[in-house]
Amino acid sequence: MKIAISASRPSDVGCLIFPVAKGSVIAPAIEAQTLAAEAAGASRFAGETGAVVELFASEGGRTVRILLVGTGEGKVADLEKAGAAVSARLLTSGLTHAAVDGTGIDAASLAHLGLGAWLRAWRIDTYRTKLAEKSKPTLETLTLVSDAAELGKSWADLEAVAQGVAFTRELVSEPGNIIYPETFVERCQHLAELGIGISVLDEADMAKLGMGALLGVAQGSIRKPRLLALHWDGSAGAQETPLVLVGKGVTFDTGGISLKPGPGMEDMKWDMGGAGAVVGTMKALALRKANAHVVGICGLVENMPDGGAMRPGDIVTSMSGQTIEVLNTDAEGRLVLCDAIWWAQQTYKPNTIVDLATLTGAMLISLGVEHGGLFSNDDGLANQLLTAGLESGDKLWRFPLADAYDKLIDSPIADMKNIGPRYGGSITAAQFIKRYVQEGVRWAHLDIAGMVWADKPGATWDKGATGYGVRLLDRLIRDHHQAG
Ligand code: BES
Ligand code: MN
Ligand code: ZN
Repeated sequence: MKIAISASRPSDVGCLIFPVAKGSVIAPAIEAQTLAAEAAGASRFAGETGAVVELFASEGGRTVRILLVGTGEGKVADLEKAGAAVSARLLTSGLTHAAVDGTGIDAASLAHLGLGAWLRAWRIDTYRTKLAEKSKPTLETLTLVSDAAELGKSWADLEAVAQGVAFTRELVSEPGNIIYPETFVERCQHLAELGIGISVLDEADMAKLGMGALLGVAQGSIRKPRLLALHWDGSAGAQETPLVLVGKGVTFDTGGISLKPGPGMEDMKWDMGGAGAVVGTMKALALRKANAHVVGICGLVENMPDGGAMRPGDIVTSMSGQTIEVLNTDAEGRLVLCDAIWWAQQTYKPNTIVDLATLTGAMLISLGVEHGGLFSNDDGLANQLLTAGLESGDKLWRFPLADAYDKLIDSPIADMKNIGPRYGGSITAAQFIKRYVQEGVRWAHLDIAGMVWADKPGATWDKGATGYGVRLLDRLIRDHHQAG
């Protein structure tokens, strides 16, 4: 579906949509004004966020569908939800073109309604060759009708972010036989056309650098690992050191020799959701030509259990020189991140690093699917991220870090072990990564295990890949890393 913008109501639309704020009088500027008000009354509709009333009425001698959609308090989240509700209702309705009457809504709000609609309409039908006619999406265009001059600009800005989210969702949705380290990199090649610099390390490069932890994970798979770095400098050199984003990109996580149980293992195709969020963010930044200097790094591996795989008890040496006793090959994300983060620091000397990873199942136990977990060595950065979470809808909740947790990953034979005791598993995982963050670097770790995939439709997504993280990082960059 695409969003169009028009100063006047297009004549060919099959559906007119009227946003209604909570408790406001229902008076759309149509012939069937009374009918619409009656339908709202009969449906006990009072403009609640995302509530929809549908009626058919005669308009200019034609029968048109009319949707009243609640925009609640009129906050950004309300408008996006309202837009999403419109898409959910119309996407497979048989209609091809609908228009939103933006009278009385400011341009920014209307654009956010459009964003919600666009994001909710996103789906991946690549592999559905037998989709029933009635289940196929029909809605091609949603026109936002408004004479506000800034609407075009507002929408273009949000569309960049939407395209970033869509790219993340695409990568997350693809199965492990399609997206593995090499193909992940291939899918990112189009970003070069947007002005993103791309560099890739292969297995030999990483071996030379001594990335024994990342390579240890990769060694049980026939798919070769990659370290991908995407560079965007929209500051034209003004920002000397980049903000560095690092994503866990385990394209499939079987657990390795510490094999996961069969049921639900298919979910581990989205164990690259952190890397997906990083590349989606980079795409958004490039599309909206953000005045910021950002590098996005993805540690890409597949965690498989073949004859060459790491064994429990193996000791690997990370690029930092620190040794790791691998007690559980399923705690592989931290092994990938520690080398990716070390390399990022050596290469870019950043002041700030944010890593994103579907790192621990314990995250789902503690926060469910409503918040990502935030761990940070810097209160200022943590607060910026918490705020960006609230503003973007990609919410976070902060966890503690402390020496007492750090001790729990000491090993009797190496510098550390890759798992702690049963309790506090998300925290000991974060403490592990913290051991690779250099003095003076502001660092935040986002454990997004519960956020990448949705079993049911949510605010602005259908079930499946959510694209979590892109809007969060984009917001953080707008608020704190952008010059203009
Ligand atoms: N990718 C998983 C974490 C995960 C589990 C993400 C479920 C999303 C949903 C990670 O690699 C993993 O297996 N973690 C282990 C760590 C344990 C062995 C210390 C876990 O959480 O069970
Ligand atoms: Mn694992
Ligand atoms: Zn994993």
